[in-house]
Amino acid sequence: PAKPVIFSGMQPSSDSLHLGNYIGALSQWTQMQEDFDAYFCVVNLHAITVPQDPKELAARTRATAAQYIAAGIDPAKSTLFVQSHVPAHAELAWVLNTMTGFGEASRMTQFKDKSQRAGTDSASVGLFTYPILMAADILLYQTNVVPVGEDQRQHVELTRDLAARFNSRFGDTFVVPEAQIQKGTAKIYDLQDPTSKMSKSAETEAGLIKVLDPANVTKKKIMRAVTDDDASIRFDREAKPGVSNLLTIYSVLTERSLESLETEFEGRGYGDLKKGLAEVVEETFAPVRTRTEELLADPAELDRILAGAAERANEVASRTLASAYEALGL
Ligand code: ADP
Ligand code: NA
Repeated sequence: PAKPVIFSGMQPSSDSLHLGNYIGALSQWTQMQEDFDAYFCVVNLHAITVPQDPKELAARTRATAAQYIAAGIDPAKSTLFVQSHVPAHAELAWVLNTMTGFGEASRMTQFKDKSQRAGTDSASVGLFTYPILMAADILLYQTNVVPVGEDQRQHVELTRDLAARFNSRFGDTFVVPEAQIQKGTAKIYDLQDPTSKMSKSAETEAGLIKVLDPANVTKKKIMRAVTDDDASIRFDREAKPGVSNLLTIYSVLTERSLESLETEFEGRGYGDLKKGLAEVVEETFAPVRTRTEELLADPAELDRILAGAAERANEVASRTLASAYEALGL
């Protein structure tokens, strides 16, 4: 029997992924690609809902794809493609735009947050209809499962509503997908502000560990991570958020339990923990960095991989779009 389909996307909004992306998304996806027919999309059409520098956008799109491959997404197993290479995304999005209520779209909380940050007058209509393009992304591949963070739950709900609405008005066309909210996934916090999640949108990069940073930069950031005055190495998210974050990262990257790390570091200082962690992070990221650099140094090879994936994606997506158009009388 065919494997169930998963779809997930990431914006090319930074030159390097960070440790939170690596642990919270990438390492999960490399595991999921074994059991699912996986589509991983670099969503550059989503990225232009806020202003972008064209050269930088093009470079980041390639760098994002390269890092995913470098971290273990296998282009032979998964379809890793660039959204703008598949015209059906924009075409189906238009159709779904015509079926979304204005009030329904207005209830999307992420738009409220993002437009407030942009200033309501400078927010684009594209930012407003962002979730509808996301629905098109998902529905084009007859996706069964959408692995996302809690913040995307509302968008997947909208996708389900739109699929069901289309099917009931025009006949069965789309699979109605399920969200798989990644709860078990460790959440990684900022090294300087360990109660906020590590994010590329943080005000400074002092607490952000980037996959492509050189080892000495990452080590410096880890050595300067915020801890506390209590000087004991134990996991306590409430009382010791900084130390707990370091232990979480250590534990996830080495696949060792928090208990075994607490035992190993008993009676030792934070300096030891940080030095050990810097080594673990370097062991994890060094091969990813090297492979990313190789891929970016050989543009023809990366283009070939992305073109092959776009061709596969186009085949499925244009078939789905054709049934939708036919159902609509277009
Ligand atoms: P950012 O917050 O840096 O903008 P994104 O929202 O682009 O990150 O997230 C891309 C993926 O990485 C999502 O699947 C998200 O759940 C995951 N992710 C982002 N930050 C973290 C974090 N600090 N801990 C765990 N997972 C994260
Ligand atoms: Na984000």
